[in-house]
Amino acid sequence: MEDKSITETYKDTIFKKSIMAQEQAQQIVELFSRGGFEEFHARFVDVQQLMSCYRCAILEVETKFKVLDEQLSLLYERNPIDSITSRLKSPESIYEKVVRKHLPPGIESIEKNLCDIAGVRVVCSFVDDIYMLAQSFLRQDDVKLIQMKDYIKNPKPNGYRSLHLIVEVPIFLTDEKKMMRVEVQLRTIAMDLWASLEHKIYYKKEMNKLTAENAASQLSECARMCAELDSKMQNIRNYIDSN
Ligand code: GTP
Ligand code: MG
Repeated sequence: MEDKSITETYKDTIFKKSIMAQEQAQQIVELFSRGGFEEFHARFVDVQQLMSCYRCAILEVETKFKVLDEQLSLLYERNPIDSITSRLKSPESIYEKVVRKHLPPGIESIEKNLCDIAGVRVVCSFVDDIYMLAQSFLRQDDVKLIQMKDYIKNPKPNGYRSLHLIVEVPIFLTDEKKMMRVEVQLRTIAMDLWASLEHKIYYKKEMNKLTAENAASQLSECARMCAELDSKMQNIRNYIDSN
């Protein structure tokens, strides 16, 4: 196969599999022409390996929460977790964030500076389930807490609520143990409803200042209603549990 067609094949694979930022794909292609096939191939494998590690870390964290749900459901006769979803940050988003935060390019920098390439969202039934699950999860001796942001006790100015954890978990590869960062978002069904709709409403929408202000104030009112709903549901459950 000619050099050019190998390059194009790799570039295609990179974009199709959505493995990495476009700029890096380009860098790899440039590397190929400078350093020869061996170097190009090694770099490509590194990126594939890194993204695979993030997928493994997601599996680890998801399993930990599934195990907790199983255990706690025996104890409390109900499932504290409503749903678990996960996502691997897309190449476009990685690229956008590297540019927005003026981070140096390259695999090492991305791994060091971006904490949310792997994301797991745990949607719970009640607010106290969030804290119960977070506590049980963080108590595990292979989970290292890097950062916690409690947007439930301190909601964002727009009304956004969730508990965010940045953690490091080990993954066991064929010949090494590697610590990987994962962003975990814990929220109730009501918090998730608000965040999902707010995202849909604003996503890639241009609007004038007045419209934006009106929308923001109505969304803030909706956030207050969601918080009230969570509080009422929690009280009803506490009432039934104590009778
Ligand atoms: P990013 O650079 O966007 O990741 O922000 P950050 O590093 O300061 O983290 P932060 O804890 O503020 O938010 C991380 C994630 O939480 C986002 O990627 C969203 O998934 C979610 N999030 C935060 N704020 C909002 C919000 O106002 N609305 C919605 N819908 N989601 C939010
Ligand atoms: Mg983020």
